[in-house]
Amino acid sequence: MKNPRTIIITGASQGIGAGLVSRFLDRGYNVVATSRKVSDSKELPVSDRLVRVDGDVADPATANAVVEAAVKTFGSVDALVNNAGIFIGKPFVDFPIEDYRKLQSINVDGFLFMTQRVVRQMLAQGTGGSIVSITSPLTQNPIAGAMSTVAMITKGGIEAGSRNLAMEYATQGIRVNIVAPGIVDTPMHTDSPKDVIAMMSPIQGISSVDEIADAVVFVTEAPRVTGETIRVDGGGHLGKW
Ligand SMILES: NC(=O)c1ccc[n+]([C@@H]2O[C@H](COP(=O)([O-])OP(=O)(O)OC[C@H]3O[C@@H](n4cnc5c(N)ncnc54)[C@H](OP(=O)(O)O)[C@@H]3O)[C@@H](O)[C@H]2O)c1
Repeated sequence: MKNPRTIIITGASQGIGAGLVSRFLDRGYNVVATSRKVSDSKELPVSDRLVRVDGDVADPATANAVVEAAVKTFGSVDALVNNAGIFIGKPFVDFPIEDYRKLQSINVDGFLFMTQRVVRQMLAQGTGGSIVSITSPLTQNPIAGAMSTVAMITKGGIEAGSRNLAMEYATQGIRVNIVAPGIVDTPMHTDSPKDVIAMMSPIQGISSVDEIADAVVFVTEAPRVTGETIRVDGGGHLGKW
């Protein structure tokens, strides 16, 4: 990637996304931060290398607005982190159709619309790029009681799509990777009992947003890493403990 680099981060108003915005600004990137209410977020630093774009990731118009803002302000799009996402855990047989549609539209449509628009821009630039998406180790290694089947249909779709995309555009220098966190200390877990979720991995505890940012930075900048998944889950994917 050339300098200065420009990165788009979705789901940027809080949690992992807000941490990624700060981390990439600290590393000298230009950042386009997007979510439905990112303009209102108090968690992002003030910087003339940061642009905020409000929008629902499930709407293809958001991807357009975000890429246009990046190109207009900074001249290019060099990297993307598909971080916007939701988790709804309910028993498979009773899973409400409206919750399924919500998961599908934010997790899968959001990934598709944003990545499609960004890859098109990267191809036009002709200088390669990096796409990183945030999924979950539960796609490969379920945990009893997590009730994650339908949510993992969507996260697993992102993983399968990412591996295929990595192959499809490898010769154009576009790398596509996954970071799969276990439990991370974000507002997603405001209502979860901390002592219980800390037990959900062999190395007990809860990951910080910084630990996830370390993994995202690594795959974003590793020039020969593509089609890879990095799990940051205290060994949760190893199986029973
Ligand atoms: N926390 C964990 O333990 C954990 C574990 C594994 C994977 N993950 C994944 O990591 C990612 C971030 O998780 P998090 O814990 O940081 O979540 P979070 O604290 O709930 O934040 C979610 C972010 O996504 C944005 N968002 C939600 N719906 C959106 C939509 N329709 N359009 C655009 N933006 C939307 C929210 O901003 P607005 O409200 O402003 O739209 C917010 O910035 C997600 O993909 C999640 O599945 C998290």
